[in-house]
Amino acid sequence: MISFLDKAVLQFDRALQTLVPHAATASRPSPADPLSEAELDQDELKHSSGLMRINHTGEVCAQALYAGQATTAKLAEVRQEMEHAADEEIDHLVWCEQRLYDLGSKPSILNPLFYGASFVIGAGAGLISDKLSLGFVAATEDQVCVHLKKHMATLPSQDEKSRAVLTQMHIDEAKHKAMALDAGGYAFPKPIMAIMTQVSKVMTTTTYRV
Ligand SMILES: [Fe+2]
Ligand SMILES: [Fe+2]
Repeated sequence: MISFLDKAVLQFDRALQTLVPHAATASRPSPADPLSEAELDQDELKHSSGLMRINHTGEVCAQALYAGQATTAKLAEVRQEMEHAADEEIDHLVWCEQRLYDLGSKPSILNPLFYGASFVIGAGAGLISDKLSLGFVAATEDQVCVHLKKHMATLPSQDEKSRAVLTQMHIDEAKHKAMALDAGGYAFPKPIMAIMTQVSKVMTTTTYRV
């Protein structure tokens, strides 16, 4: 039986892995690796970096949401699947981080704040019910898919490296969303999704810059 202290240490370790640069390791190579770096002017570089910073913070939130959920939700039948999804989020996190550094930029300074908030949401939803908790995962993945689509469309066209990362992420996130719904996640009604869109706007507008 894992004690409370063990759990707390594991959680702390996971938060550090997410928030400390270069601390996490991906299990799959980045889809950007085989592609060559494009020539980007100052504005394009700024735009690609801004979008990749948003996506990186999105992955920080995903880590925290899954971590929070894992501490409180029962997830009797789908714990393994959720852990696998969380592992794929680590790949995304590492790929986005690597891309940000390659673009000469860095992750958002607001990440610890978003990690904390998402952890609380994940743990809180898990305390209430698995249905709600899985619903939150599905709704979050849905929001991420919307952002990814938008970002793929507005990235500088020659930035194939960033686009390759986002394309694979979109495939994985759509799968995570379907899995959470299949596992019995509550499909949030439109008004709740609209609130989530507003909340995610706070994240995207701030982290595009800092
Ligand atoms: Fe992800
Ligand atoms: Fe995901």
